[in-house]
Amino acid sequence: MNIPLIDLKAHHQALHAEITSAIQNILERTDFILGQDVAKFEEEFAAFCGTKYAVGVSSGVAALELSLLAFGIGPGDEVLVPAHTFTATAAAVSFTGAKPVFVDVDPGHLDSGCDQTRRSHHPEYKSDDSSSSLWPASRYGPDSRDLQKT
Ligand SMILES: Cc1ncc(COP(=O)(O)O)c(C=O)c1O
Repeated sequence: MNIPLIDLKAHHQALHAEITSAIQNILERTDFILGQDVAKFEEEFAAFCGTKYAVGVSSGVAALELSLLAFGIGPGDEVLVPAHTFTATAAAVSFTGAKPVFVDVDPGHLDSGCDQTRRSHHPEYKSDDSSSSLWPASRYGPDSRDLQKT
């Protein structure tokens, strides 16, 4: 029996006219890199997040890499990443020159965001060690209290 996981056609159908018209406008303006739609997105997303700025990038992995670079992560650093996540989490760490170190996830919420997880799975981790960082990836919704502590 073939059980479809997701019906992308049905999702797309509802948005087809809006997406087609937006793409058509981009093509007509030849806004192939950045342009007014990206600027509008950045402005609206910043407002949604309650931040001063938002930066649109080409992919999720690029967003992760840039965030790590903004924190000064690079060669010589270790970043703890959950063993249960998409490959982009560790790839972004590698792209900066830092070393991804896989840690197991908490069986309660399948994330590696809490300090307890850090300590139990990476005993050499010390919270005052600036060369060791934790990069939580929320696959199923974070336990916000744990992420706040992180
Ligand atoms: C947890 C996580 N991080 C990063 C990405 C990467 O996104 P992109 O494929 O846009 O680079 C994904 C994609 O599924 C993801 O699930």
